[in-house]
Order: sequence, then C-alpha cells, then structure tokens
Amino acid sequence: MLGIFDSGVGGLTVVQYFLRRKPGLSFVYLGDTSRVPYGNKSLETIRRYTMEGVRFLVDQGATDIIIACNTMSLCVEEVRCEFPTIRFFDVIEPAIEAVERSKGKRIGVIGTRATIQAGVYQERIKQRMSRVDVLAQACPLFVPLVEEGETDRPEIKRIVRRMLHPLRQAQIDTLILGCTHYPILQEVIAQAIGKRVTIIDSPAALYAMMERTAPNLLDEDDSSTAQRRLCFTDVSTQTKAIVRRWLGHGFELERVNL
Ligand code: DGL
Repeated sequence: MLGIFDSGVGGLTVVQYFLRRKPGLSFVYLGDTSRVPYGNKSLETIRRYTMEGVRFLVDQGATDIIIACNTMSLCVEEVRCEFPTIRFFDVIEPAIEAVERSKGKRIGVIGTRATIQAGVYQERIKQRMSRVDVLAQACPLFVPLVEEGETDRPEIKRIVRRMLHPLRQAQIDTLILGCTHYPILQEVIAQAIGKRVTIIDSPAALYAMMERTAPNLLDEDDSSTAQRRLCFTDVSTQTKAIVRRWLGHGFELERVNL
C-alpha cells in the first residue's frame, strides 16, 4: 500500500495529480492538520513530527511512502535510516531533476522558511548545474492561506505579488514551487511572476520521476478494488471543503491521532 504524507492539505496536490493519471490507485493519505504549518518550526520538531507520521502510515500497512512535503523531505535520509524496510520518495530530488531538464539559468525557489533556510535547493542546484543563478525566497504566509481555503481573493493576489516581487525584479526564467501547498495558488503565482517563467511543481516532477523509477507502484491501478483513505489529525470545515474542491465528492475523511 502507498502512503502519502504531508503536514496538512498540501499533499492533496500530489493525490489529485496522481489520481488524474491513475484513477484506480490505492493509498492512505495522512495530513497532520492539527499541527500544520511545519515550515516555521525548528528542524528538531519537524523531524519528530515526520517520524510520528511515518510510524502511523507504516502501522496502517504502508510499504512505500511519498513524503509529499518539501519541509519534511529535509529529513528523508534520517527517516530512511529509521525505517529501512520502507521505500521513501521525497519531493526535493524530483524538482531538482526537473530543473536540470528545464535548462533554466536564473532559477527562483520559493518554499517554507525551514526549506529555504536549510538551503538544500540552492546547494544541490549549484552542485549539479554550472553557470546558474539561484534566488530563494521564503513565503511563510502561503501555507496558512491555502489551509484556510483562501486562494483567489484580491488581497491574496496582492500578498503573492509582494512576496514574489524580488524574484520578478531579478528576472528569473524558472520558478520552483518548493512546497506542495503552492500548486493550489499556481494561477495567482503564475500571474504574479509573469508568463515567460517556467514553473516547476512537486506533483508533476514527482510523478515523472516515479514513472521512471517505480512504474510497478503506479501500475497498481484498479478502480474496482481501489482502497483510499484520507486521514487527518484534525478535520475542520475547511479541510472538508478543500478535499471536496480538490478531489471531488466520495471521500470519507478520518480523524486520527498520531
Ligand atoms: N506542504 C509542505 C511543504 O511542502 C508545507 C509545509 C508546512 O507545513 O509549512 O513544505
């Protein structure tokens, strides 16, 4: 069984992307909605929360786990050591590979404070691509906006424009959405950054990588036997509304404790 884990509803962008291509995919999703956001917490806390969520998914029978969160992906190596029999997929490596393929030269990266401060994107891109400029910008306000279901009001557009202003000024040609919540704001982000900028998002980059590296997992696609569970540590009216908006009707939401 495939486990998919995010701090909140952001990983549903991965679920939606995968279900559009593999409607019969079985999975158990965990969103730690009672503790989101993770991105403004210390690495120590992020590590502890990540281990607790992974333990929950393993207890539910997950044998392969997508860490559908850039912030948690910072600790993927520690998670691999702790759970050596589980296969893990993170969302940072696929995005870096997508950037390499894009041949961009002025790369912008946006993410949570923890992701940007850790400098992983900046370092790995510089290591693997020559003559590129990388500009990183933390956007800590975006995750709470998405969790609130606020995505297209005029003031949201103003906030997004303001946060992306330095990257626009710097005339980037490629923008990595280094947080799985951000594809929910993708239209607003695309408008703010300008049409000529290539946008790389975690769900598409991850899917492309898994098609290459784990095709068998994606082939377990049978609508007649599919089992899908959506587990959240808190189920609010917003959580329900976002699930409906992103995945449609027909999903039961389970409230779980870690
Ligand atoms: N979706 C998570 C990520 O990709 C959001 C992090 C958060 O909880 O702040 O980084």
